Amino acid sequence: MSIEIDILSGDAAWPTVRPLLEAVWPPDGAAQRAAAERHHPTLRVLIESSGELVCQVGITIRIITWNGRKCQVGGLGELATRPDRRRQGFGSLALTAAVQTLRDHEAIDCGLAFCNAEQAGFFEARGWQRYDGAIAADQGGGKAPYRELTPLQLDLRRKVRGGTLDLCGSPW
Ligand SMILES: CC(C)(COP(=O)(O)OP(=O)(O)OC[C@H]1O[C@@H](n2cnc3c(N)ncnc32)[C@H](O)[C@@H]1OP(=O)(O)O)[C@@H](O)C(=O)NCCC(=O)NCCS
Repeated sequence: MSIEIDILSGDAAWPTVRPLLEAVWPPDGAAQRAAAERHHPTLRVLIESSGELVCQVGITIRIITWNGRKCQVGGLGELATRPDRRRQGFGSLALTAAVQTLRDHEAIDCGLAFCNAEQAGFFEARGWQRYDGAIAADQGGGKAPYRELTPLQLDLRRKVRGGTLDLCGSPW
């Protein structure tokens, strides 16, 4: 079994990852319409096993604010492994490659990911911590507290604790 890790632009990789993401999160009608205008992450990490895409994670690099001060984050999102290829280490591999990409960038203050409560342990077991402050984000017509998913952060250049993170845009 050969394993390949690619890091591509989020836009360019979309046609390749779309079937995987739609298998994991089947789109409803509204999501399908939104897909045409969707915001793509800056980069995507693609994991291929024997030539087949098995896992991907998006990386959104964005300047946000933390307690009003600029902070450059590496936002991880849409980490997904093909349902029939889970528990074989691909998710961990994708997360490790994404974190290494953030470290290589050198100007990223912290990693920030959002996931549902059941998946938070996956990140915590890999060095991420629950972010204990408030999140504000653009959502359907204006800025509002974002509490839908569990926020997790990874220390890089700064230790981001407490206070308010303003995502300066939509959640990724
Ligand atoms: C979360 C998700 C990406 C994990 O992907 P994965 O490829 O199964 O991840 P891994 O195989 O690296 O690890 C999963 C578990 O399998 C275990 N595992 C890894 N390799 C294994 C192996 N060879 N045999 C048995 N177990 C294994 C890991 O220890 C891990 O357990 P843990 O969570 O208790 O630490 C996957 O479950 C998924 O796509 N979920 C749906 C989408 C989602 O919720 N994404 C997260 C929100 S962004």
